[in-house]
Amino acid sequence: MLARDFILWLSTKPSVTNMIARRGMKNGFARRFIAGETLEEVLTACASLCTEGRTISLNHLGENVSTEAAANKVFETYVHLLEQLHDRKLPGNISIKLTQLGLAVGREFCENLAHQIARRAHELHRTIEIDMEGSAYTDVTLDIFEAVQRASANAALAIQAYLYRSENDLKRLEPLRPKIRLVKGAYREPKNIAFQEKSAVDANFKRLTTQLMEGAARGTFFPAIGSHDPAMAAYAQAEAARLHVPQDKYEFQMLYGIRRDLQDQVFREGNPVQVYVSFGTDWCPWFMRRLAERPANCWFVLRSLLAERKA
Ligand code: FDA
Repeated sequence: MLARDFILWLSTKPSVTNMIARRGMKNGFARRFIAGETLEEVLTACASLCTEGRTISLNHLGENVSTEAAANKVFETYVHLLEQLHDRKLPGNISIKLTQLGLAVGREFCENLAHQIARRAHELHRTIEIDMEGSAYTDVTLDIFEAVQRASANAALAIQAYLYRSENDLKRLEPLRPKIRLVKGAYREPKNIAFQEKSAVDANFKRLTTQLMEGAARGTFFPAIGSHDPAMAAYAQAEAARLHVPQDKYEFQMLYGIRRDLQDQVFREGNPVQVYVSFGTDWCPWFMRRLAERPANCWFVLRSLLAERKA
C-alpha cells in the first residue's frame, strides 16, 4: 500500500513525470503498456490482436481538459477513431473519459459531446465505453452514462469494486440493460468511501461479479470482467457456469501488454477477450497508475533509466 501511495504521489510531480515522459518511449519501457503515440502505430498493433480473435477498445490518452477548444479536439479524435475502426473492419469500440471531453468546461457541454459520439457510433453499428474516474466524478459520470444509454443504447460503463456505493449503483443501472466493465479501481480514495485493503476490494469484486452474472442470467447485464487477477477470472468463470450464463453473454477485459499469459489462457478457454489499448503522447499519468498497481513494474523502468546513464 505504501509503495502504491508513493507512486501515485509521484505521479502528481511534474519534475518526475516530465523526466519519465521524455525517456519512456525512447528507452522503450513505456511501449510495454502503450501501443504507440500515433494512430497508425496503434492500429497496426490492434490489427494483429484482432487477427488472433480479440476485440479492442481504443483509448486516446489524456485527462482533465479545461477548454472548449481542447475538448472539441478530443471529440473529433474519437469520432475519427470510430470511423477508422469501421473503415479497417477492426472489431472493437472506443473508451472515453468524461474529464477529457470537457467535464470541467460544463456538464451540459460534456454530455452533448458524449451524445454525439454515441450517435456516430450507433450509425456505424459500434459501441462506446465510459471509463470511471476519481470519486469527485462518480455521480456526474453515472448521470451522463444513463442519459447516453437511454438515448443510444450502445454505451458501457466502468464500475469500481473499491467503492462502497457500487452495489447500489449497479441496482440503479440494471433497468438500462447495460454492459458493465467491473474493475477494482485505480485512484487514491479515502476510507470513508472506499475499501483500502486488497482483500476487501477482492471480496467486493467477487460480490459484484455475482451480482452482474445474476443479471446476465436474467438478460439485464452484460458483464465485462476487467481484471488481471487470475483469482477474479476463475471466480467469474465459476459463477457463469453455476448460473448457466453462456460464454457469449460476458467477456474479459484486460489492458494492452499486461498479463498476456492470462489473456491467452482465458481466451483459449473459450471466453471473449477485449483488450483496452491506450495510445497518444499524453501517456504519463496513465503509465504511473499502472506502476502503482504493481510496484515491481518500477524495476524495469529503473533498469532502463540506469542502462541509459551507463551508456
Ligand atoms: P491487481 O492489482 O489486484 O493484481 C492482481 C495481479 O494482476 C497481479 O499480481 C499481477 O499479476 C497482475 N497485474 C495487475 N496490474 C498489473 C500491472 N500494472 N502490471 C503487471 N501486472 C499487473 N480503473 C478505474 O478506476 N477506472 C476505469 O475505467 C478502469 N478501466 C479499466 C479497464 C480495463 C480493461 C482494466 C483491465 C482495468 C481498468 N482499470 C480502471 C484499472 C483497474 O481499476 C485496476 O487498477 C487494475 O486493473 C489493477 O487491478 P487488477 O484487478 O487487474 O489486478
